[in-house]
Amino acid sequence: MNLEDLTKALGVSGFEDDVRRRILEAVGDAEVDDFGNVIVGDKSGVAFVAHMDEVGLLVTSIEDDGRLKFRKVGGVDDKILPGSRVVLYGEGIRLEGVIGVQPPHFQQQQQTSWQDLYIDIGATSRQEAESMGAAPMMPAAFKREYAEMGRFVSATAIDDRAGCWALIEAYKRGVDATFMWTVQEEVGLMGARALASKSNVRSAIIVDTTACCHPNFTGGVKPGNGPIIRIFDNYGAYNNKLARRVLEIAKKRGIPVQIGAGGGGTDAAAFFVSGIPAVSIGILSKYSHSPVEMAHKDDLKYTVELIAALAEELPRTG
Ligand code: CO
Repeated sequence: MNLEDLTKALGVSGFEDDVRRRILEAVGDAEVDDFGNVIVGDKSGVAFVAHMDEVGLLVTSIEDDGRLKFRKVGGVDDKILPGSRVVLYGEGIRLEGVIGVQPPHFQQQQQTSWQDLYIDIGATSRQEAESMGAAPMMPAAFKREYAEMGRFVSATAIDDRAGCWALIEAYKRGVDATFMWTVQEEVGLMGARALASKSNVRSAIIVDTTACCHPNFTGGVKPGNGPIIRIFDNYGAYNNKLARRVLEIAKKRGIPVQIGAGGGGTDAAAFFVSGIPAVSIGILSKYSHSPVEMAHKDDLKYTVELIAALAEELPRTG
């Protein structure tokens, strides 16, 4: 499974089937729990966790003229919506759409709210839109983009297919640990909350992207210098003792890592409140929550190495 294939899977929060299917193809002996999380391993010892879902949109209603109203799913900036291409999807259905934008010729106001926008699928009536397959409560993901540029990969949903990919790579290299791919992280860590509450793991290492970079939030970290140990974010400080241990192990093994912080939060918070020591490893991602997110190839490689090292060195019991 390469990263490109994973970023091309559609996985708006709550509608992750396409991502889950590809992960299940790549790993054997996986279990899917009642919430849609994917788990490989015996759920004890060290667990590595990445979320399958991505931010996007949900169609809410169809207007008489065939245009679709929608709501946002997760943290999507209104600024990136006008002029975006989206894909509506469901069982056996893929529908292209665009979010229309007022031509500069007619523009009177500068700021646009998502509530004034529509998805246009080329239908001119509600009937036509329905006959094309559009329906309320259908997810719409940003159209898939993938490009390699210099030492970077730019793609839709690098957050957190980069993490999903790193776990699959580690699994395929024979790393002995529990791996968990969660649902609905972007809307409140929902999958991880359900998973953590019934898990016996000794510690959880969350592998997610960290929005890069802002001196007030992230500190002086830089893409290419290794994944960051995310010491603090909007949920707090997670587990400093485990973070120090992760840093020691990385140093001992000569794996580049950086110390930083993040805005927002990660699934680590869900494990923390379930009484499981958790630390968040962040793959720095430029332009987070946009269709052109970028991650550095070296950081991806070091992340897999770090997972392998931590699986060997972190205690499994006690
Ligand atoms: Co994420």
